[in-house]
Amino acid sequence: MLLSDKFGRPITDLRISITDRCNYKCIYCRTGNEGALYGDLPFSDYFRMARIFASLGIKKIRITGGEPLLRKGVVDFVAEVAKLRNAGGEPLDIAITTNGHLLSDMAQPLKDAGLRRVTVSMDAVDPDRFARITRVSNGFDNVLAGIRASRRVGLWPVKVNCVLMRGFNEDQIIPFGMFARDEGVVVRFIEFMPLEEDRVWAPETVVTLDEILRRMSEYRPLIEIPHQRSETARRYRFDDGVGEIGIIAPVSHPFCGHCSRIRVTADGKIRTRLCSVWDHDLHELMLRGASDEELVAFIRSVVARKEERHHIGEPDFVPASRTMVHIGG
Ligand code: GTP
Ligand code: 5AD
Repeated sequence: MLLSDKFGRPITDLRISITDRCNYKCIYCRTGNEGALYGDLPFSDYFRMARIFASLGIKKIRITGGEPLLRKGVVDFVAEVAKLRNAGGEPLDIAITTNGHLLSDMAQPLKDAGLRRVTVSMDAVDPDRFARITRVSNGFDNVLAGIRASRRVGLWPVKVNCVLMRGFNEDQIIPFGMFARDEGVVVRFIEFMPLEEDRVWAPETVVTLDEILRRMSEYRPLIEIPHQRSETARRYRFDDGVGEIGIIAPVSHPFCGHCSRIRVTADGKIRTRLCSVWDHDLHELMLRGASDEELVAFIRSVVARKEERHHIGEPDFVPASRTMVHIGG
């Protein structure tokens, strides 16, 4: 039987973080003082997890971090995962989410290993602003080169994630619209969620879907195009057909009802939601010598308890037990 939770949501999308380390210190994500808080596992352990999840109906595996490209051996790991088949005998859709800093030299080897797609986080198209947000000087050129290399080698479609935070980068909306058109990438704006180390989130810091649409239409009209039910982003094309943007609006337009995702952290804990207040130690069971059948039973019991929805912005909201960099996005 394939994985589903008690609300009947099929779980088809697994995200595995392979390191808690990140070489960027983006101001909306990190304090700038903390490093990695959790350890990571040998690739063979992530692979065993991926194999078991694939047998339970997972169709898509996204490799995350921290920053996944910091981890030596990531290309070989992709090659191993690419050999897996899901419950229907199909190859998996393998993607990676990266800050892009090390991507330009790795795009071709990753593609050759079987990676299908890449999502690059990029929160400004202006190099100085980019440096202020990431707190890394000269990163912009590397990231741009990584995006271009990914397109060139066919890691398609290249998606660029831009988290908007009021006062920092909402003036980048139109420049990002131009960037999507010029570079042939899908730029997806993400509403800022309370998942940052610094706990600076407040409702006023969120630049909402409505505001993004309003501002972008001052540049060019947008036309909404269909998206899949389980997809996080609403999709739009510009009126002349050139360029696509997406808006991921977990705060103003939550999409929990169609959630198909489950996450494993770098230290081998299952998280049923980004905003969960607990996690479930899959790796500990492995260390205790659990068989595949025991791991399957554990995974099923955890998935069954996946929470219905998040409570961001509500009076009873309890902050997640981990912040984004320690989950994987
Ligand atoms: P594809 O859609 O397969 O291309 O994957 P992707 O990682 O590029 O996008 P995805 O939609 O999985 O996630 C992009 C961003 O959306 C994440 O980095 C989060 O900021 C947000 N997001 C993803 N999943 C969830 C979720 O379950 N809940 C909430 N609240 N936000 C999410
Ligand atoms: N809210 C929304 N998205 C976030 N990301 C990181 N922190 C947050 C947050 N607080 C995004 C990153 C990256 C992905 C992993 O999650 O920009 O694209």
